[in-house]
Amino acid sequence: MGSNLASVKKAQNVLVGGVNSPVRAFRHVQAPFVILAHGAGVSVQDPAGHTWIDFISGWGALILGHVHPVVLRTMRSALSRNWPLGLSSPYEVELARLMIEAVPTLQRVRFTVSGTEACMIAIRLARAATGRSKILVFQGAYHGHSDSLMAASTKGIPESLGDELLRLPYQDLQAAEQAIQQQADSIAAVIIEPVAANMGVIVPQIEFLQNLRRLTTAHGILLIFDEVVTGFRLGLGGAQERFGVLPDLTTFGKIIGGGLPIGAVGGSEQIMTLLAPEGNVFHGGTFAGHPLVMQTGMATLKELKRHPPYRRLERLGAQLEQGLLLQANRSGVPIQINRIGSMLTVFFSNRPVRNEEEVLLCNRVRFARWANVLREQGILIPPSPFEAIFLSAKHSESDIKKFIVASAHAFDAAGKA
Ligand SMILES: Cc1ncc(COP(=O)(O)O)c(C=O)c1O
Repeated sequence: MGSNLASVKKAQNVLVGGVNSPVRAFRHVQAPFVILAHGAGVSVQDPAGHTWIDFISGWGALILGHVHPVVLRTMRSALSRNWPLGLSSPYEVELARLMIEAVPTLQRVRFTVSGTEACMIAIRLARAATGRSKILVFQGAYHGHSDSLMAASTKGIPESLGDELLRLPYQDLQAAEQAIQQQADSIAAVIIEPVAANMGVIVPQIEFLQNLRRLTTAHGILLIFDEVVTGFRLGLGGAQERFGVLPDLTTFGKIIGGGLPIGAVGGSEQIMTLLAPEGNVFHGGTFAGHPLVMQTGMATLKELKRHPPYRRLERLGAQLEQGLLLQANRSGVPIQINRIGSMLTVFFSNRPVRNEEEVLLCNRVRFARWANVLREQGILIPPSPFEAIFLSAKHSESDIKKFIVASAHAFDAAGKA
């Protein structure tokens, strides 16, 4: 651990807070952060050789696990031939085709370099398509850190942008209905994570999504599904296929890049062709459609199609959920587990957790103890109560059992907090 503290200090001397994304600083669990040097399958290792079974899974990106051999082979061969080419390549066409084939509402796709950028462009498209400016978002959601979508929740963004954002409680249909009815003429889009993953996992009532679809259609508002997390995780067709609710625009990231930086926005030909060069909504990028990323993405989606892991992930997810519930019960610690397929969050609460307000009522000190004791026993989970535990196709029953066994001590420790 001493060597880790020295590495943390070294990082803090050159990077802000020692990290490049705040959650990696482990502030939510009040512990020195972990620095990882290697990953293979589900195993990750720090520079001193400590290993953990990883349940962060690249914040959901690594559905095939770390350094999957098929993706690695593709990456190796692409590395020797396809650095950024500066012009179009066949690979972006192929990755777009694979996505269009899998996801119900896609006719055209535009690649970006991050999920943030994809959501930013989706909003721009919606504003252009409707000639309106307001965006309805849900409290506790994260759609990347563009100014439009982060207004009023971080310093450094003009207040006027906050006026363009309506923030309502997740799953509060009455509030959404009222806002839409009162302000329909100025609302361009409703953007939603069809399963919330950034206040911990919250699986909405399907009727909520259906009603949002009904209301937005009735008022000429675009419905945007942010499937940066759920895309190719809840199934090849994402949340929209699973729930049968079809958005106007969809954003992607994470899995479609096979572990490399990516984002994408997609939708109908009619809306998407508002983008330049066909239309006058600008988006461009030096690295958009990077051939190396496109090929790792293609390899990943083809592998998911060839060997769909979803049923097995559902089974492993259910095993983990049941095992954790049993252990918490044995320790006398009330918890709620919100889970869909291979993504779940443990909330330290004795009441259901359905929106941000209820998330904030959960016991975060207990969460921190639980996460820290798990880590001491070789189980690495996201160091924040507002994130999802992700399974990958490489997790085995034995990995799940180890998590459950380790959680016995972890829940005991949490119970003392
Ligand atoms: C639902 C959702 N949307 C958008 C983003 C932003 O993606 P990126 O981190 O690639 O910018 C994230 C990132 O975690 C996310 O979870």
